[in-house]
Amino acid sequence: MSSLNSKLIKNSSYINGQWHSGNGESFAVTNPVDGETICTLKGADKSDATLAVDAAVAAMPEWRAKTAKQRSAILRRWFELIMQNQDDLAAILTAEQGKPLSEAKGEIAYGANYIEWFAEEGKRIYGDTIAGATTSSRVVVIKQGVGVVSAITPWNFPNAMITRKAAPALAAGCAFIVKAAQETPLSALALAELAQQAGIPAGIFNVIVSNSSRPIGEVLTGDPRIAKFSFTGSTEVGKILLAQCATTVKKTSMELGGNAPFIVFNDANIDDAVQGALVSKFRNAGQTCICTNRVFIQSGIYQEFAEKLASEVTKLSIGDGSQANVDVGPLINDEAIESVSGLVNDAISQGAKVLVGGHVDDLGSRFFQPTVLINVTPDMSVATEEIFGPVAPLIEFDTEEQAIKLANDTEVGLASYIYTRDIGRIWRVAEALEYGMVGINEGIISNEMAPFGGVKQSGMGREGSKYGLEDYLEIKYLCMGGLDH
Ligand code: SIN
Repeated sequence: MSSLNSKLIKNSSYINGQWHSGNGESFAVTNPVDGETICTLKGADKSDATLAVDAAVAAMPEWRAKTAKQRSAILRRWFELIMQNQDDLAAILTAEQGKPLSEAKGEIAYGANYIEWFAEEGKRIYGDTIAGATTSSRVVVIKQGVGVVSAITPWNFPNAMITRKAAPALAAGCAFIVKAAQETPLSALALAELAQQAGIPAGIFNVIVSNSSRPIGEVLTGDPRIAKFSFTGSTEVGKILLAQCATTVKKTSMELGGNAPFIVFNDANIDDAVQGALVSKFRNAGQTCICTNRVFIQSGIYQEFAEKLASEVTKLSIGDGSQANVDVGPLINDEAIESVSGLVNDAISQGAKVLVGGHVDDLGSRFFQPTVLINVTPDMSVATEEIFGPVAPLIEFDTEEQAIKLANDTEVGLASYIYTRDIGRIWRVAEALEYGMVGINEGIISNEMAPFGGVKQSGMGREGSKYGLEDYLEIKYLCMGGLDH
């Protein structure tokens, strides 16, 4: 706590422009490195969440009435303040989430970029004029902000998953309420402090903190005054929240689980593919929805790729993310360690072989060694389940058709990756993959200019890009009649 900027550390929800001591339980925010308490927060309950909805409803008309340019200027100030405080925000993020400081700084810039992007895009909301059904009429289409937006965000990106929902909502003239992940609320509250400094009016950006997700979630998915709900998290929880939203027919954006295939063909540049796999797999210790989950290697290069990847993985340094030169931090909690260990042990028991890693590290009970497994088969649970840890399971394949079939053999479809130099194959495979995103000779694909999102049970809606704004807009048709009188 002492090395964190105390001006950005807040210990309660932010509702209607005020730091609001909630009526819920107090709870501790801990450092995943050692479980030590960073600070204790006053949690919110259902009544506090309803208060946030009241505030958002009351504040929205004035915000919506501003010009897009006025909203843009305020969002721009928020972006600038975040970038001015990048180091302090990154230190807070690392303390509560565990990712290495360099990655945390990257996330702060990544998150801020969404605010900068949507501050601009908000000025570019276009409608249509269409020929009328009669000579005296015209069809006019306008787009308006959807209304009050609520969101629930995850612990793996405690900053960027908030900004990429809040920024398009605010740019479109909506008010926004987020329930931050209970493991990582400090980054959300620091964003609220800077939102206040930037001049975002009271009630327009609200942050609820609580260790009791269900009752807050019931308000955010059930209150009829909320028009849209946006969620990033597991498919399992997403389905429950979707069902709750159905009772009041809310618009939804759902960014759910993934099981990303990383396919390397014989003709690929192997060194590039190894680097791509490294960044895609081990970013945030493997705790992202788009992290490589299954590495499919064509038989002609399987051995070479495995050796090269293993050699790079042994160079990754594991440790406390706040220390210099750490590549892989701790996992978020004990359950995460149990789950990753379980998947690795299960694979070994079925014939997989460990090339590197494979165990909890001597550094401490939250550190899982960066791991490469070979002789993995597609039916092992390490290949069918989302690992959310630093483990790369390598599966051999023979033909392009087989690779596509294996890659698509999952209920989810968020990110996928292919490495090949063959332009025909690039198009064939990219079009055949049942995924919302395909990295082609690229392991890092997220940025604010691109539409992030999945198909199948990975969810619906897109975040970032011009499409990310559309998700916060309603289409209204004006039938302009009587034009010949
Ligand atoms: C996620 O894990 O849900 C987000 C990853 C990203 O934005 O790159």
